[in-house]
Amino acid sequence: MEDVNGRVAMVTGAASGIGLGMTRAFVKAGMRVMMADIESGALNDAASGFAPGEVATTVCDVSDRDAVFASVQAAVDSFGAIHVLANNAGVSTGGYIDEASPSDWAWVAGVNYFGVLHGCQAVIPHLKQQGQGGHIVNTASMAGLLGGVAGWGPYNSTKFAVVGLTEVLRQEGREAGFGASVLCPGAVNTNIYESPRNRPDRFGPQVSPVAFMDDPDELKRGLNPDVVGQLVLEAIRDNRLYIFTDPRFAKVVSKRFDRIASDFAWATDSSALNEAHAPGSTIMRK
Ligand SMILES: NC(=O)c1ccc[n+]([C@@H]2O[C@H](COP(=O)([O-])OP(=O)(O)OC[C@H]3O[C@@H](n4cnc5c(N)ncnc54)[C@H](O)[C@@H]3O)[C@@H](O)[C@H]2O)c1
Repeated sequence: MEDVNGRVAMVTGAASGIGLGMTRAFVKAGMRVMMADIESGALNDAASGFAPGEVATTVCDVSDRDAVFASVQAAVDSFGAIHVLANNAGVSTGGYIDEASPSDWAWVAGVNYFGVLHGCQAVIPHLKQQGQGGHIVNTASMAGLLGGVAGWGPYNSTKFAVVGLTEVLRQEGREAGFGASVLCPGAVNTNIYESPRNRPDRFGPQVSPVAFMDDPDELKRGLNPDVVGQLVLEAIRDNRLYIFTDPRFAKVVSKRFDRIASDFAWATDSSALNEAHAPGSTIMRK
């Protein structure tokens, strides 16, 4: 979507960090923004930094499907349409797969994955009905492309799911006339390690460790979220699928691809497949 001036966006997790950075970038480019967040005090404080008419606010828990649909409708009611949705709200939880509590898994999946899905389902009918194009940006992480770190299971797996969902969304959006991107940040200087501040009561108390990095201060040395906001805007205009904030990760991702290629080679030589003369599946060849 090249021309964003005068368009309407909704950003989830807009009260802090990357969501606030995106809101600033979108407003600067002439968009009006519905800021959605679960933390009403922080949301009001964040919104007070904008001029009247530039933004509106909606208190919304993205893990609650009805709340997300209501917030998207509120954006349309306030601004007359919706063109861009940034499904950005996210929380951090680590813990070994067998040790993280079921409620920790439910919370991180509810916000990081189902929150994104709810947003897509709520906005797509509007984009189709308006017929004016549009764009959906889903926030994943480099943790959505790099797995295999012990203790990252809950967060990692939700972010892989967001990457997978967005790759499908990209195809479906092409048919329906809107774009889709997945934001995969490296370290960004935000409040993500204070995630339990916004944990809804229905998920119970946090059991697992919140931060899974060896050095939690690493984020403080991370990128300024306003830079990420500008990068996202640039990527929407260029309709990029993956939005990376730290190109140094390219080498690490290609090592993962090397491991995948090596196991394809192993499968090619496998006695089970060779003895069965298995032709392989054609399902994924399109
Ligand atoms: N900071 C990083 O280094 C980094 C790296 C990779 C990915 N990310 C992703 O970026 C996104 C934004 O996080 P951030 O780093 O800006 O953290 P942040 O904590 O500064 O901001 C997250 C915002 O989401 C809101 N939120 C939390 N739960 C919510 C819910 N249930 N419903 C609605 N809003 C909710 C919070 O109130 C907060 O305003 C997340 O998806 C996160 O996983 C961050």
